[in-house]
Amino acid sequence: MNKKLFISPSILAADFSCLGEQIQKALLAGADMIHFDVMDGRFVPNISFGIPVIESLREKFKDTIFDVHLMISEPERYIQDFARAGADIISFHFESTYHVQRVIEKIKSLGKKAGVALNPATPSFSVKEILDIVDVVLVMSVNPGFYGQKFIPSSLRKIREIDAMRRENGLKFFIEVDGGLNSENLHNVVSAGADILVFGAFIFKGDIQSNISLIKQELEKLEKS
Ligand code: DX5
Ligand code: ZN
Repeated sequence: MNKKLFISPSILAADFSCLGEQIQKALLAGADMIHFDVMDGRFVPNISFGIPVIESLREKFKDTIFDVHLMISEPERYIQDFARAGADIISFHFESTYHVQRVIEKIKSLGKKAGVALNPATPSFSVKEILDIVDVVLVMSVNPGFYGQKFIPSSLRKIREIDAMRRENGLKFFIEVDGGLNSENLHNVVSAGADILVFGAFIFKGDIQSNISLIKQELEKLEKS
């Protein structure tokens, strides 16, 4: 396969009473970055956490890549705040703003990596016009809002289509897949073209270290294949 695969644990499924410790465990076990699911109760039917949480964790984890997934309406209003709080990758939803291209440029102008996330019902061709300016395309393999949901199989086709557009145009953006991943379905997701894999419940509901080791083992096999 000859490419690096990345593990991005989603703290949405973590124990918030000892979040710092849980992140530390995930990093020691080999997580490549940390995934932050920000929800506003408008774009998605749930409210999670926001800027102050990211800011205080940034104080503690100075060198960790913070992969921030905004599930909020009008993300343009908050990009600057999330950049200042310590986000490295800022992904927002294609469906959450009228001005996708403008928001991407805004994120990049702040020196951050820009990601565009797609809900399960949003087709791959929606992002065709902005593929040459994004750093990440985040394919949601569940409807955003909650951890612990079941992987939607049609996501595989969408990942393949986006990977095909990437190859046809010689582009270098990463494909991130988020929702319902586990040590079994990750094989199909990686073969379809994913580079960054988000795991919530699979990592945090159980022993963090052994769950990440299991994922790493599987990914190393795939990287070598
Ligand atoms: C869903 C979030 C995901 C989710 C992942 O709205 O964007 O990041 O927490 O959790 P699992 O892996 O449990 O689906
Ligand atoms: Zn997410």
